[in-house]
Amino acid sequence: MSCFPVRLQEVRQAVSVCLRSLTVWAVRLTGSKYGCGGGGCGACTVMLSRYDPQTKHIHHFSVNACLMPVCQLHGAAVTTVEGIGSTKTRLHPVQERIAKAHGSQCGFCTPGMVMSIYTLLRNKPQPTMEEIRETLGGNLCRCTGYRPIIEGYRTFCEVISSFISGFHHGQTETSGKEKLLPLDPTQELIFPPELIRMAESEERATQTFRGERMTWISPISLDELLQLKSQHPQAPVVMGNTNLGLDIKFKGVIHPIIISGFRVRELFEVTEKPEGVCIGAGSSLSTVRSVLEKCVCSLPAEHTQTLAALLEQLSHVAGEQIRNVATLGGNIASAYPNSDLNPVLAAGRCSVVLQSREGKREVPLDKDFFVGFGKTVLKPDEIVLSVFIPVSRKGEVVRAFRHAPRKENALATVNAGLRVWFEEGSNVVKEMSVYYGGVGPCTVSAERTVQQVIGRPWNEATLSDAYRALVDEVTLGASAPGGKVMFRRSLTLSLLFRFYLHVLQHLKDTVRPPSKHAGQSRQTAAEHWVKNYDVPSGQSEQDPVGRAVQHQAALSHATGEAVYCDDFPRTQGELFLSVVTSARAHARITHIDVSRALSMPGVVDVFTADDIPGKKFRSFTGIDEEILAQGEVTCVGQMVCAVVADTKPHAKLASAAVKVHYEDLPDRIFTVEEAVEKRSFFLPQREIQRGDVTKAFQEADHVYEGEIRLGGQEHFYMETQSMLVIPLGEEKEMKVYASTQHPTMVQEAVAETLGIPSSRVSCHVKRIGGAFGGKVTKTSILASITALAAWRSERPVRCVLDRGEDMLITGARHPVLGKYKVGFMSDGRITAADVRYYANAGHTPDESVLVIEKILLHMDNAYNILNLCSQSAACKTNLPSNTAFRGFGVPQTLMVIENMVNDVAMVLGRPAEEIREKNMYKETSLTHYKMEFDPENLLRCWEECKERSELDRRRLDVARFNQQNRWKKRGIAVIPIKYGIGFAEGFLNQAAALVHIYKDGSVLVSHGGTEMGQGIHTKVQQVASRELDVPLSMIHISETSTSSVPNTCPSAASFGTDANGMAVKDACQTLYKRLEPIRKQDPNGTWQSWVAKAFLERISLSATGFYRGHDLYMDWVKQEGRPYAYFTYAACCSEVELDCLTGEYRTVRTDLVADIGQSINPSIDIGQIEGAFMQGLGLYTMEELKFSPSGVLYTRGPGQYKIPAVCDVPLQFNVYLLSGSHNPHAIYSSKGIGEPTLFLGSSVFFALKEAVAAARSDAGLSGPFTLHSPATPERACVACSTCFTQMIPQAETETTQPWALELP
Ligand SMILES: Cc1cc2nc3c(=O)[nH]c(=O)nc-3n(C[C@H](O)[C@H](O)[C@H](O)COP(=O)(O)OP(=O)(O)OC[C@H]3O[C@@H](n4cnc5c(N)ncnc54)[C@H](O)[C@@H]3O)c2cc1C
Ligand code: FES
Ligand code: FES
Repeated sequence: MSCFPVRLQEVRQAVSVCLRSLTVWAVRLTGSKYGCGGGGCGACTVMLSRYDPQTKHIHHFSVNACLMPVCQLHGAAVTTVEGIGSTKTRLHPVQERIAKAHGSQCGFCTPGMVMSIYTLLRNKPQPTMEEIRETLGGNLCRCTGYRPIIEGYRTFCEVISSFISGFHHGQTETSGKEKLLPLDPTQELIFPPELIRMAESEERATQTFRGERMTWISPISLDELLQLKSQHPQAPVVMGNTNLGLDIKFKGVIHPIIISGFRVRELFEVTEKPEGVCIGAGSSLSTVRSVLEKCVCSLPAEHTQTLAALLEQLSHVAGEQIRNVATLGGNIASAYPNSDLNPVLAAGRCSVVLQSREGKREVPLDKDFFVGFGKTVLKPDEIVLSVFIPVSRKGEVVRAFRHAPRKENALATVNAGLRVWFEEGSNVVKEMSVYYGGVGPCTVSAERTVQQVIGRPWNEATLSDAYRALVDEVTLGASAPGGKVMFRRSLTLSLLFRFYLHVLQHLKDTVRPPSKHAGQSRQTAAEHWVKNYDVPSGQSEQDPVGRAVQHQAALSHATGEAVYCDDFPRTQGELFLSVVTSARAHARITHIDVSRALSMPGVVDVFTADDIPGKKFRSFTGIDEEILAQGEVTCVGQMVCAVVADTKPHAKLASAAVKVHYEDLPDRIFTVEEAVEKRSFFLPQREIQRGDVTKAFQEADHVYEGEIRLGGQEHFYMETQSMLVIPLGEEKEMKVYASTQHPTMVQEAVAETLGIPSSRVSCHVKRIGGAFGGKVTKTSILASITALAAWRSERPVRCVLDRGEDMLITGARHPVLGKYKVGFMSDGRITAADVRYYANAGHTPDESVLVIEKILLHMDNAYNILNLCSQSAACKTNLPSNTAFRGFGVPQTLMVIENMVNDVAMVLGRPAEEIREKNMYKETSLTHYKMEFDPENLLRCWEECKERSELDRRRLDVARFNQQNRWKKRGIAVIPIKYGIGFAEGFLNQAAALVHIYKDGSVLVSHGGTEMGQGIHTKVQQVASRELDVPLSMIHISETSTSSVPNTCPSAASFGTDANGMAVKDACQTLYKRLEPIRKQDPNGTWQSWVAKAFLERISLSATGFYRGHDLYMDWVKQEGRPYAYFTYAACCSEVELDCLTGEYRTVRTDLVADIGQSINPSIDIGQIEGAFMQGLGLYTMEELKFSPSGVLYTRGPGQYKIPAVCDVPLQFNVYLLSGSHNPHAIYSSKGIGEPTLFLGSSVFFALKEAVAAARSDAGLSGPFTLHSPATPERACVACSTCFTQMIPQAETETTQPWALELP
């Protein structure tokens, strides 16, 4: 049952448990996923329905199951993704459409997406596009880039964009709305009648649920609530649990008693009066929004200023799931420094009614209400009963602004609530309030600034004085928590300036505001997407190769049936493993005290490196890496020991109780500069040289030196590291289920750690919820530790990292510092380049040396620079060890080179594309490592991209726009890419497969590739279908297993399909040949009859296949080689619009042309292209890993680390596949595409840089300037050098330690 009522009895068992845990462990529904546990990703979205006996209405709303306490659910019906449809019965249109639109790749986010839209449709069967987009605002996807998800769900809108009917040029079963299952609201699940009866007749009594560590009391009347609060003043009142829940889960806060206000009707009352609206503190933010919308519509405009300002803020608070449960009172009482509501409530003269048993008091929500971080004037026994929002008065103007690292679903960096009241009929200010969030421990009032304005006319002179006062009044120390000190301070000024402009307009001043576009604009839904690819001709209807076949597991994803590692049912006696990590960056371990942990409930074992029976280290590139720390720790987050207990909560509690004693060691190294100074490297360093660089520099017209820093990037695969190890109890056999890209490495690691032969260990991978390179080396270490726990306890052991642990432990993309010196002629020809790369490898080598090799191999990108020299080094630091990430160093090196080319353009004052074009490879050439290649398709991509993007015309438009606008600037950039496919380590270019044909004709294919969303299984099925000449439906792939296919290579380097597809082709051809005599004997027979006959004739129906790939190599001594089988090419043009006041930008349009040969599956390839582009956009413009000065990672979840969300998709996003491209080096003339287009996200970076240059030009600045990556709003805004950033004095960083490290 997957729409289930929650009754009291169930709740009693699970007091401190969230709904997601209940669905998994009690009801065995694993459809909703656990991506973060903190309400930030939406993977766990389910629908709650409640019957209101007063209105007789059933309310449906989406919630994050990970934050919803089970105790809060009594009387609610929960609908999970399994409840709305299944592949066995009937699909729901919401499930079908995301699948048919190719909207799922790894599928881990899909159930959440489905449930968000399902809930929307339950409330509004024909939503608008804006509603769909807004609904998905709380759901993250790391794979697809969102475009296909929106495209699929757009079909529910009343007005359907034309492209859906032309979707993929009618080549798939997905085209046309008429072929989609219709949405029939009458067929939806009914609300359980027993819950209606229960609600109607409910005995209204206090409920008390007692758990192991917490008692939950849920009173039904205000009196009771107040009485409880007076008895237990320290017990918090829980409402939406969106703040309290995070404290309990992530900060280890313990509340022995929690009082729920959820059933107290008085907390939900709403009263509209002529003087304002009084809203019960228990009202959810969604309810508040509806109430305000109603008021704004019904009241005269002059009364709605505060209401409208609050509405504006509410539409940006969190995602829909959070807004549906988070309450107004909770937001106020939490007193977050960056609450979006408090500044506007305070500015808008709102007040709160506080009540205790002693009585009520009405308190203004002003500067005196917020007394410190998370603190208000509330007494311990008081509650917030209601909030009063007065109507605005004639002549009063109220506005709220916010700036956040991501436009949606992100806490504000700085926000503001501002109000001004004018003397009647004049522009003289009678009253004013200015409140800021995000610039202090609590909501801050700028009173001295306000005093500069009161009594004066609203004009530039007045405001100039106000800015000066504000700079002195709202300050932040150089080490202020959250960092971004200068930016945050400048935002206080620019938000005030925005208000100034707004008020000017309001007053209908005759003075024209400097910018027509200075107001905050809300992004509308993406509007145009065009696909374009050749239809394969001359092949049978049945042959699926080249067709846009849906991902083989798309329906399983959409129905929640897809099984991920943590979804495997709990086995008898199963234990859970939690790791204890180092709290120091560099220290000697003097003692590990496990005694307390061992005595805690449920704990079975605690072990350290000393307990490893086999090898205590792993070696990835010839250098040993400890599995668990031995004696010394070298970074915060290094694994020290492991705790094994009967449940996850017990294991977590016990691991927190392990006491590790340290003695700090000197010489901590965090940055690459420190590493260079102390010669701290993982060897070998690499270098490459071509031509005569010294001479070329001497002869160059210009020589320019520059540098760029690139931050790292967290993989943020939606499924965290997960594994389950089952000891089979016989002959030391171990079965490992893991979410890994490299099952063979896991198998070897487990065998070596336990000191047993590999033949006793089998590793099985059903599917992976995203990997992007992060599930190779780190997973094998974690699997070794988990296997050791299973070995010692002789019981199955599961290990699933929480998001925060995963981010802390497993490392990221290498941050890189690139320094360059470039020589060039006045016509733009680059004649010499000297480039140095320093990659921050972290504390262990992992694959860093291979990464720096790839950095050098790709440093030419598309450019034929005849004299160049370069060196790259993997710097050993005391940070978590960095690892492979989609592109493996290429996105870093290309950024450095393209930045260098961009600088050349800036020095010469030429358009960047002209310099790029001038230096591109033009004819068959040798790369700097002497590999010959023909750049024809690179040039074709480039030309087609320029043409399709209408670059010439739009460049003129951009210039015109920039001339007309002071505070908004546009930029446009085109970027090419040449990306080598294959492993430079020749031995890795191999693959094997095993194909069985069963007597009924069905085919089971096994190969060495793992399915992590990239669609390898779908493509391999297409290959098998063609080779065996059977319909796709006959081919099944169950899992990747080292028992079926041994000695596999990692699914990486965009090479998975190339290699495994060939191996499967080989096996299928063997089988096809074996069946040939039988086919000839009976040409009119069927596949099934031939197979049956073959069996009777004792013909083997099972075959292995093997692919011996290209002999690729790189000789670093001779500095030459053929490290790649071929190149994938692409070009991309992006245009952005930048708000110079806040650094916020939006991508207006992106046109991308990719040469991927003859695509085996265009929809999957386009999915890879778009997903990679969005990941690149994240890398280069928003994703920031932040470390404390002592090396502690701050960014440990979606709350602090922002990946692109649906609001970041370019407004217009066109992807074209280059036609007529052939590739003799890969299967069916296709090309690898998983990684290359990630770099094209940099087109957004360079467009931004151009927009910044336009702003700088207005400020009188010209020539090259430094903009590091990611070009966050902070960096872009500061680089614009507006009058506001210039007003902020430089922070004294020499005397004060900044809040975060400056990496790399
Ligand atoms: C993923 C995520 C994104 C978010 N994004 C934003 C954002 O963009 N902008 C923003 O402003 N906020 C944001 N928030 C914060 C969110 O708005 C608050 O957590 C929420 O409003 C708190 O309300 P609640 O009902 O969930 O409080 P709870 O978690 O239930 O309680 C929080 C605190 O308030 C106290 N409390 C609650 N109600 C009362 C009452 N009536 N009387 C006395 N004390 C009370 C509790 O005792 C507790 O101490 C976000 C939160 C999450 C999890
Ligand atoms: S798992 Fe619930 S929101 Fe991420
Ligand atoms: S498909 Fe969305 S996270 Fe993988």
